[in-house]
Amino acid sequence: MEPTLPSPRLGDRSLFPALEARAYLNHAAISPPSQRVQAAVVELMSRYAAQGVGALSHSLEQRERLRQRLAALVGAAPDELGYVANTTAGVRAVALCVPWRARDRVVLLDGEFPANVTPWQRAAELFGLRLSWLRAQDFFGSLGAGLQTLEDALRLGARMVAVSAVQFQTGLRMPLAEIGALCRAHGAELFVDAIQGCGVVPIDVEAMQIDYLSCGSHKWLMGLEGVAFVYARRERAAALRPVVAGWLSHEEGLRFLFEGAGHLRYDRPIRARADLVEGGATPNILFAALEASVEPIAALGVPAILEHVGAYDDALERGLLERGFGSERSPIPAQRSGILAVQPPAGVELGPLHQGLQQRGIACTTPDGRLRFAPHWPNSLTEIDAVLAAVDETIASGARLT
Ligand SMILES: Cc1ncc(COP(=O)(O)O)c(C=O)c1O
Repeated sequence: MEPTLPSPRLGDRSLFPALEARAYLNHAAISPPSQRVQAAVVELMSRYAAQGVGALSHSLEQRERLRQRLAALVGAAPDELGYVANTTAGVRAVALCVPWRARDRVVLLDGEFPANVTPWQRAAELFGLRLSWLRAQDFFGSLGAGLQTLEDALRLGARMVAVSAVQFQTGLRMPLAEIGALCRAHGAELFVDAIQGCGVVPIDVEAMQIDYLSCGSHKWLMGLEGVAFVYARRERAAALRPVVAGWLSHEEGLRFLFEGAGHLRYDRPIRARADLVEGGATPNILFAALEASVEPIAALGVPAILEHVGAYDDALERGLLERGFGSERSPIPAQRSGILAVQPPAGVELGPLHQGLQQRGIACTTPDGRLRFAPHWPNSLTEIDAVLAAVDETIASGARLT
């Protein structure tokens, strides 16, 4: 009999018994797989080991169940989602498939993670698009400046606006509802890179008037690397040019394998839906992992998770401010996410500080020159004293700090 695994509870990491760090604060980078995720992977692997292709029908059911769950997480319909390999592949699919007109303008944000930039730059080269740049940091604090620069750009006739739900280095949560309303008012389409948001901050493609969204699994959804989903609003998907289609993108594309002779044709229509991006075999093991990691998120509820990590970040931020750190977290609750980013106090160098924390079992990262902490639902607030003690010890040890 399978051992019963503990139920997920906020602040309880008993589903992660192998985790080495005393405080694992890297969910904005890569989340560790829970025992549930590991069990789901082993279970599906065993099925494939026993049945080979016979395991496929089980996998396909799982894939569609997961599609429903992910759609519910972002307020979409399941047929508005397609699976891709990573966030970038979702950005790329949209950037290549939009029926562009030459000189269409795409609005990008300086400061964004490059996953939401490179594909648009490539599309600009291929299709003769123009790029306009705003500053992500203009959306920090009072909303006026950022939204004003966006509206100015939209007045110039932008076709597409591409933003992240949450900025990867500062954790700034973008005002997606306001951005979506402005885009809609000016006839522009809105693309969202949701990997730093989905699973920890509420995202609703309807309420936020998002047209396209791409999100990988291995951060706040707590799945494994190598699978992501892309959302395309139904009417937008219908207008896409299927530049990235493959053999499994056709309507009834599997009939020739299962229904006898006479069905092998090359002229079946390509699905006019987001899942046209599923052009070949899918990463079924990764779907099994993702289903097992998303279940606890759905059960705990994203608002409760956000409140939990908010309380964690509040307490850690307080302790760090007392020690002379500078916080890059917005004072406005609606602009906060799971991420707490700080600058070290004067005279303390980031690299050695980070190294000292790592050695003391505090797992965090230093993207773009700041110290980034990213707790998720399993992190307990009781860890915070150990984090602050590790900070004190590292600074006191002084050896490698300037
Ligand atoms: C905002 C953002 N987008 C995208 C990615 C990664 O993209 P991909 O899933 O294509 O590796 C990251 C981090 O790795 C990120 O922080």
